Amino acid sequence: MSIRIKRIDHLGIAVPALAEARVAFEALGFRVDTEHEVPTEKVKVAFLPVGESHLELLEPAEPASVIAKFLEKRSGVHHVCIQVEDIDEALDELKARGVRLLDETPRVGASGCRVAFIHPKAAAGVLFELKEEPKA
Ligand code: CO
Repeated sequence: MSIRIKRIDHLGIAVPALAEARVAFEALGFRVDTEHEVPTEKVKVAFLPVGESHLELLEPAEPASVIAKFLEKRSGVHHVCIQVEDIDEALDELKARGVRLLDETPRVGASGCRVAFIHPKAAAGVLFELKEEPKA
């Protein structure tokens, strides 16, 4: 068993308002390639390509969103998403190593990807999202 890390998929950045953040990021030279709502996570997201990775801007869709809670304390980088070859294998390995997880089993994220979060206490305060792309 191993954790086969492929790349940084995206950096999740919490913003109070997507429209305003979009203008600010476009002034920096980024462009938005997709924008959609993720009802299960209570967020609206925009993806901005950066080479093979993306920035993911996250706006809370309602006050109960974890992003709304995060923004009460600070704004900026919220999580780092790492693409892995096989998320089940990675989670099994992390459990075997005693790593604290927020998700013991993957949940289905946007566009059929499977994702799981690692507890930030296991990673120097960084919230890591693991992601496996749907198999073609
Ligand atoms: Co993300």
